Parts: sequence; C-alpha cells; structure tokens
Amino acid sequence: MTDFVQSAALKNCWYPVIDSADLVDSPVAIRLLDEDLVIWRSETGAVAVAPDRCPHREAPLSIGSLENGVLSCAYHGWDFGGDGRCVSIPSSGSEATIPPAAHLSCRSAEERYGLVWVCPGTPDVPIPEIAQEADPAFRRINTGVEAWAVSTPRMVDNFLDVSHFPYVHTGTFGGAFLAGQFSAVAAFFAALRSQGMRSGRRRPCYRPIQIGSDQTEEQDHAPSRQNQPRR
Ligand code: FES
Repeated sequence: MTDFVQSAALKNCWYPVIDSADLVDSPVAIRLLDEDLVIWRSETGAVAVAPDRCPHREAPLSIGSLENGVLSCAYHGWDFGGDGRCVSIPSSGSEATIPPAAHLSCRSAEERYGLVWVCPGTPDVPIPEIAQEADPAFRRINTGVEAWAVSTPRMVDNFLDVSHFPYVHTGTFGGAFLAGQFSAVAAFFAALRSQGMRSGRRRPCYRPIQIGSDQTEEQDHAPSRQNQPRR
C-alpha cells in the first residue's frame, strides 16, 4: 500500500485538502498520501505547505504558532517563511548564519474554488478547470469535510452513483427526480458514457441547485445511512 500511495501517478496530482476559510491564523495539520504536512497562510496571504516536522528536533510544526504569516516552531522557536526558508534561530542569535538544512521543503499549493489544493510531487497537470465557476447561472456549494468510514473505492462509487439521489438528497438536488423522472438518471449515465465526467447545465447532476424550503443544504449532507460505518 505504501508503494502505491507514493507512486508518481498519485503524488503528481492535485488534492483539495482544506476549506480556504478554515485557514486563518493557525497552522493546520493534514495527512496526504501517508505524509504528514503542515499548512499555513504565509506573510503574503498565499498558502504554504511543508512536511509537518521541524528540521531541528522534528517537533510537529502544526502545533506551532503564526505571527504575520511566519510559522514558529513550538519547541525552540525557529521561524519559517512562506517559502519554507528558516528566517530565525533564536538560540543562535540574530547574526548567525542559517544552515541550508534548516529550511523546509515546501510542496506545491494553490487556492481554487474556495479550497486549498496541494500536490505533494511535481504537478503533471493543472488544477481541473470547472467552467461553471465563472458562470453566473451556477453557484458553488462547498459542503464541508465529512469523515466517511468506508474504503476509497466505496466513496468514489458513491460520487459516481446518481441513482441514490431521489432517496438520500430529497431536500435538494434529489428532489428533481422524485416525480418518477428516472429517465433523467438514464440520460446522465448516457452522458457519462459518451463524454466523461465533465459537468454541464444540461446534465441533471450538475444543474443549478434549488434548495427546498423545508430542508437546508446542511441537513441534506448530514450523516445518513450512506456514510455510517457498516456493521
Ligand atoms: S524542534 Fe523546532 S525549533 Fe527545535
């Protein structure tokens, strides 16, 4: 498994790892492809990502603090800028030369669609373009992070499975299917077969969402039978 998650095929892809709004004035720990990383908003406002391990004595940098975007290790106070460079070693004094090994090896990171994207390797391709982001006929809904006690294939299967909409998402986008409109589901699968997963307003899964008056989008994504641990 370790070999698989460290393969270039996975490491060179982009992964959304955290909601941009959740990255404010503290570093955040994430684990991506078996690697512990720290994310913080740097002095320029840009997102910085590095291994969650101080080069000095390997303390987790995610338990450190931020001051004006500079990440400070909680153990001996080494400071790191958004480019990963160590800018201060307090115990050595302000005139000390900072050794190359004191710097962090930052990962590629960008913000798009209200999310922070990280590529732990060398990006093979750009972050996917979603044309609807710039289309005023659509609005983006970032639903937050849910921990699902399922295998990755099971989760992927769920995202590709539109026939559960009328039963699980009755208050939002599933409502459109309630009146026996299962031909729309068949049309969606036909579109998948012919054109892949690109979204478009004529495909029922991605058309503008009408929030029902009696159910909020948060309720619609509340834990349900679908994302409960299997017994
Ligand atoms: S372990 Fe981070 S400064 Fe010493």
